[in-house]
Amino acid sequence: MDKLIIRGGKRLFGSIEIGGAKNAAVAILPATIMASSGKAIIDNIPEIEDVQCIERIIEGLGCKISRVNNTVTVDSTTLTSTDANTEDVRKMRASYYLIGALLGRFKKARVELPGGCPIGVRPIDQHIKGFEALGAKVTVEHGTVSVEADRLIGTNIYFDVVSVGATINVMLAASLAEGTTILENAAKEPHIVDVANFLNSMGANIKGAGTDVIRITGVSELKGCNYSVIPDQIEAGTYMIACAACGGEVTVNNVIPKHLESISAKLIEMGAEVIEDGDSVTVKSNGDLKGVNIKTLPYPGFPTDVQQPMSTLLTVAKGKSIINESIWESRFKHVDELKKMGANIKVESRIAIIEGVEKLTGARVKATDLRAGAAMVIAGLIAEGVTEVTSIEHIDRGYPHIENKFKKLGADIERVTE
Ligand code: EPZ
Repeated sequence: MDKLIIRGGKRLFGSIEIGGAKNAAVAILPATIMASSGKAIIDNIPEIEDVQCIERIIEGLGCKISRVNNTVTVDSTTLTSTDANTEDVRKMRASYYLIGALLGRFKKARVELPGGCPIGVRPIDQHIKGFEALGAKVTVEHGTVSVEADRLIGTNIYFDVVSVGATINVMLAASLAEGTTILENAAKEPHIVDVANFLNSMGANIKGAGTDVIRITGVSELKGCNYSVIPDQIEAGTYMIACAACGGEVTVNNVIPKHLESISAKLIEMGAEVIEDGDSVTVKSNGDLKGVNIKTLPYPGFPTDVQQPMSTLLTVAKGKSIINESIWESRFKHVDELKKMGANIKVESRIAIIEGVEKLTGARVKATDLRAGAAMVIAGLIAEGVTEVTSIEHIDRGYPHIENKFKKLGADIERVTE
């Protein structure tokens, strides 16, 4: 088991490159299996455990995969199985995209119910509603989702909740349905647009991604293509927040500043300086910031995935801050760890009330989930003394080479194997 040892108190200076978006990559890789001819060659795939996990899963179904640096090539013409039930499938949330992808291409799939971060109940009723509306028979038995259809027929689907997963999953299946599907109350996250662009590069006909109405005209087959994944807005946001917390001046390169606007706006409200320049964003901070209120919302609102790193920053901001976590009901598991370091936080259901303290002090703390892990790393970077962050396999699921990137910015952080 690896852990991170951080000696806090250093300001951060310099620049780092942001990798491809995890939540786009883990949808695009399953989508590659919809190609019945040609190879999908995808660039800017981040080197993270969740990506390796999804690669192992689709390899297990019979695809051929190769990687050169950040470029992954998938040949799905050799795919033989529509049955996904390995430990890897159970481990990660995004394995649910295999249902939509296999249903689209083969009109059937059996996929074990996915795992993922323990951040609340994670139902897939909206995915199922969408598949059924397209004409599939869906059963959930013994923890496995089975879908089957003679034909998939396009239709109008109104989602009851705004769901990233359901929007993408139904978009996958509908791409190979007969006729037109209209998704209403669709999610608008940048990775929805990225997956739609990828599918269109494979020959699909999707319009409106990025708005809450997506129109998909089914095509009879998809083929391989060349594609590059968008930058990871959550990874970028995490480093921006870390700079604001530690003080210093950090430029995050290879980003789409528009995707970061809700995060930039909060940092500016707190007193940091944020400068956009082409495909980079620079944060300048003297570390002396004031508290703010945050409500997590679907895009373009403040992303739930940076709520935990942001909460660390708020522990040392002046005055009171209130966080309202409206997406996940258990996304405050990191708060007990922050309290070990001297934070003053009260959690009542989905609300966290944070009273800023003078400083945090180093302690042995745990990454309870992926973004909680990033929150604890930032806590270690600002704390007085030494912080040990354990269970960092959660962090490795979504942040490529986190210790190297922080080291490049001047942090005193090292990975050790226990
Ligand atoms: C995706 O999860 C991301 N994961 C999450 O990122 C992210 O927090 C979330 O979107 C919201 O942005 C991946 O992309 C792999 P949802 P997803 O369906 O698709 C409810 C991270 O840290 N809901 O948009 O599972 C649900 O309970 C991870 O990288 C239903 O009620 O999220 C939640 O309250 C963690 N029924 C809300 O919708 C459904 O059928 C949003 O969930 C589906 C969802």
